Amino acid sequence: MPSDDSHLYLGAMTGTSVDGLDLALIEVAGSTVNLIAQRTFPLPSALRKTLLELGQGIGDNLDALGEADAALGRFIGETARGFIDSQGLANEALRAIGSHGQTVRHRPRGRNAFTLQIGDPNRIAELTGVTTVADFRRRDLAAGGQGAPLAPGFHAALFSHARERRTVLNVGGISNITRLCTPLQGFDTGPGNALMDPWCAKHQGAPFDEGGAWAATGRVDEALLESLLSDPYLDQAPPKSTGREHYNLEWLSERLRPALKPQDVQRTLLEFTAASIAYAVSNWAPETERIIVCGGGRLNRLLLQRLKALANATVDTADEHGWDGDAIEAGAFAWLAHQRLNNAPANVPSVTGAAGSRVIGAIYAP
Ligand SMILES: Nc1ncnc2c1ncn2[C@@H]1O[C@H](COP(=O)(O)OP(=O)(O)O)[C@@H](O)[C@H]1O
Ligand SMILES: [Mg+2]
Repeated sequence: MPSDDSHLYLGAMTGTSVDGLDLALIEVAGSTVNLIAQRTFPLPSALRKTLLELGQGIGDNLDALGEADAALGRFIGETARGFIDSQGLANEALRAIGSHGQTVRHRPRGRNAFTLQIGDPNRIAELTGVTTVADFRRRDLAAGGQGAPLAPGFHAALFSHARERRTVLNVGGISNITRLCTPLQGFDTGPGNALMDPWCAKHQGAPFDEGGAWAATGRVDEALLESLLSDPYLDQAPPKSTGREHYNLEWLSERLRPALKPQDVQRTLLEFTAASIAYAVSNWAPETERIIVCGGGRLNRLLLQRLKALANATVDTADEHGWDGDAIEAGAFAWLAHQRLNNAPANVPSVTGAAGSRVIGAIYAP
């Protein structure tokens, strides 16, 4: 049982891969954060399809948006309820749920910059009876920031090291790095699985390329790789963030030659993903001695192998440092709920570019 000054929080995250709902139960005791339990729940396929379409702006439709907001809120609420019960927890033992929701649009630039996460937190609070914190990104955006990434403060809490210069890499749909230095820095490097997944789904009928095995049957097409690497986003100076509205199959098709074999394209996408990450680290975190990888992409063995070859640093996984690599992002939103309830600022201005530190997230009473 947790001690008196410790608190349990549940984090809920559906990332840009839209592969599932990650739940992470964490205990915060002072500056120590422990992972108690983690589980990923697949999304109902109709909901997943809608979320993917909304994320890519396919036939934008307000009714579809409103319904998906409700449906995802219901799914998170019901799933969280079941998970809390399965842990044998009474509601009183849980201080809050931090729910990120699903990003369906992220336009961080311009006077009317906006970011939109759905998954109605009112429903989560209603269905669980637990205080719910959500809408974490928009306050940072209102303060002139990118609204992303928000996990760096948590990455620093978990993996900072007194002597070793470290960078945390999360390979989700999009890849982002946190440079654990003072001041903290972090940004989206470019794609994670956002190109490999849909290409694999289209040609192999599988949602992702297990271990990178299919990519391993192909060869890198140098001309395509060069064309992908010329994408201006890669050279844009941080703070910066991106999403599926940029890196998707349409973006790829503008750069494809029809004669290419599907497995060669997959192998080239994998190389592009590894190279763009290594490029970002060497450009903006050149002192890095160790890269700690989390997110589903760490399970792509070929991707990790290519990263080890291309990066000028030791590469290992969060799991090798005692944290389940699937729990970090959801754990971050549990931790952000903790920060919110303590009125502690949690965005990192040096990361997001916001004008200052802000208390982020909105509270929905149980
Ligand atoms: N065994 C595996 N082999 C290769 N890729 C994997 C494996 N397991 C997960 N992935 C990749 O990780 C993605 C999910 O990662 P996740 O961290 O949940 O991303 P997001 O935060 O975008 O949801 C999957 O869509 C898939 O591309
Ligand atoms: Mg995911």
